[in-house]
Amino acid sequence: MKLLEERIRKDGKIKGGDVLKVDSFLNHQMDVELFARMGEEWARLYAGEGVNKILTIEASGIGIACVAAQAFRVPVVFAKKSKTKNIAGDVYTAQVESFTQGKRPYPIFVSKEFLHPGERVLLIDDFLANGNAALGAIELIDQAGAQLAGMGFIIEKAFQQGGGILRDRGIHIESLAMIDS
Ligand code: G4P
Repeated sequence: MKLLEERIRKDGKIKGGDVLKVDSFLNHQMDVELFARMGEEWARLYAGEGVNKILTIEASGIGIACVAAQAFRVPVVFAKKSKTKNIAGDVYTAQVESFTQGKRPYPIFVSKEFLHPGERVLLIDDFLANGNAALGAIELIDQAGAQLAGMGFIIEKAFQQGGGILRDRGIHIESLAMIDS
């Protein structure tokens, strides 16, 4: 997506070798106008997929997933990284194996109330890197008996393994910007 690529070139900063900082419009301050354009783009790209729910993982995915959900006119649910009192009841849960330095594997949870058999779920997230969060989300969708309609990412780091792993599974992936190196 040209608008996004231009914004990354203008405002993105490289940090510590392979980390792209996009805090000024995506991960900290958020450009909601740009989010709206991205939501519309995914709605166009997934027009034939019968998406009726959007799923994301807290925290950075929530903003973009909400805006995308408006474009699709479907509900959005986010997987939580801790099992708070609010979702103390029946939950689907999966473990995310994080390879990022200094991070440990962590569980994600979605209440059984909010994912259902037969739903066509689109996962939306900000970055596709190693793909571990996406694999965790697939487990939640499988446990619910729902169907994965696709996965939309804002930025795919094409030099990391996630894109290959997920495409090998035949998943319909739409990354709005690809970073080659
Ligand atoms: P994976 O989910 O694709 O396996 O990603 P990985 O373990 O490699 O990355 C862990 C976290 O770092 C993820 O956020 C991911 O979105 C983020 N990340 C990966 N590469 C970059 C990058 O180049 N720039 C930025 N800004 N973030 C990157 P998370 O742990 O889910 O945290 P949150 O931000 O959603 O709370």
